[in-house]
Amino acid sequence: MSNLVKKYRIVVLPGDGIGREVIPEAVKVLKTVEEHVGLNFDFIEFPCGGEYYLKTGLEWPEEAWLTCKDESDAILFGAVGWVKNGQPVRLPNGDLAGANVIFALRFGLDLYANVRPVKLYPGVPCHLAYKEAKHIDFVFVRENTEGIYAPIRGALSRGDEEELAVDVRVITKKGSERVIRYAFNLSVKRGKGAPLDKKLRVTCVDKSNLLRGCQLFRKTYEIVAREFPQVERDYIYVDTMAMQMVCIPEKFDVIVSPNMFGDILTDLGAALQGGLGMAPSGNIGDKHAMFEPVHGSSPDIAGQGKANPIAAILAAKMMLEWLSEKHIDQKCKKAAEMIEKAVEKVLIDGKIRTFDLCYGSYSNIQPSKTSKVGDAIVEAIKSMESF
Ligand code: NAI
Ligand code: MG
Repeated sequence: MSNLVKKYRIVVLPGDGIGREVIPEAVKVLKTVEEHVGLNFDFIEFPCGGEYYLKTGLEWPEEAWLTCKDESDAILFGAVGWVKNGQPVRLPNGDLAGANVIFALRFGLDLYANVRPVKLYPGVPCHLAYKEAKHIDFVFVRENTEGIYAPIRGALSRGDEEELAVDVRVITKKGSERVIRYAFNLSVKRGKGAPLDKKLRVTCVDKSNLLRGCQLFRKTYEIVAREFPQVERDYIYVDTMAMQMVCIPEKFDVIVSPNMFGDILTDLGAALQGGLGMAPSGNIGDKHAMFEPVHGSSPDIAGQGKANPIAAILAAKMMLEWLSEKHIDQKCKKAAEMIEKAVEKVLIDGKIRTFDLCYGSYSNIQPSKTSKVGDAIVEAIKSMESF
């Protein structure tokens, strides 16, 4: 390979459960586009998560964090969280073993925008009656470094009785401003607007009728929105939003919200796009970025080769898009397009799909294994014209 081709160092953290089944498929697809488009990746993999903690007493090797922080161009992450004897594996302080890996990355690398595209691809049966692919194509931008997941919490015990617990929800002007600006820029960059009326629109989801933090979030939205006169302003309370995402998803282009509202609503978003097996995400900051499927480690199906790898593969595609923007690299952009086209082709062909997509008009299909779906996507890429 020519020395002129930039080498991207990718840290791979498969983690627990199905993370270790879907991430190898995403890497397989990345290696295919690397070859096909003429890219150069240097993958470096580390173990992490609850199972690793049971073996070593650590959630991940120290070297993994240092590599993510100082020596990587991007991070591809699976999921963490494990169960033993029917109980979640926890640290002595009660934290889920492995969760600190995610928080170290999100907080430590300041990955303030959690970007979650909700797109229903043709060939994926929709859980909603009356809706099809043309109706569902928006992006949820969730604040990712504060809100109720800020590590300000505690419990009070007296005697043997745990009597009180608090989780403090933190909303700052800086945290709100940067994620809201990210959402407006994204609406402009996408350029296609909402499926309903093609209007560029950023919907602010909050509970500002009551909560002080949400009032600050909305006030900040108002200030940032003035920089983007071409984008329509839109406001909705989080409870009504849960209904509107189901009733009229075609109204949305880009949605922005504080941390926990976005966490919950994006699993609803995943249901609109065929389930968690179809939902990718990016955790994006100014310098670093980490990409992962929205789903967790799924102990209920882990180890059986059943998991849908498409969410992880689409997360790899988002990683390439981010690298292409950061380094102005057309090859990464092309590779991302190829991955998406290959996923679309396999879904439209219809015959090779994991169990979670075998419902509705696809209920007669015999479910394929995780690696079969990865293979089909690889073959679809190989059959495309190279760069
Ligand atoms: P989950 O996302 O792992 O699974 C929820 C349901 O969706 C399960 O029935 C699962 O089988 C199904 N599902 C998820 N991904 C799928 C795929 N790719 N293909 C087919 N079906 C899929 O969430 P759950 O069960 O609530 O949590 C399991 C563990 O994962 C817990 O320890 C939790 O804390 C952790 N978790 C970790 C996350 C992360 O690392 N970012 C995110 C969410 C949960
Ligand atoms: Mg979640």
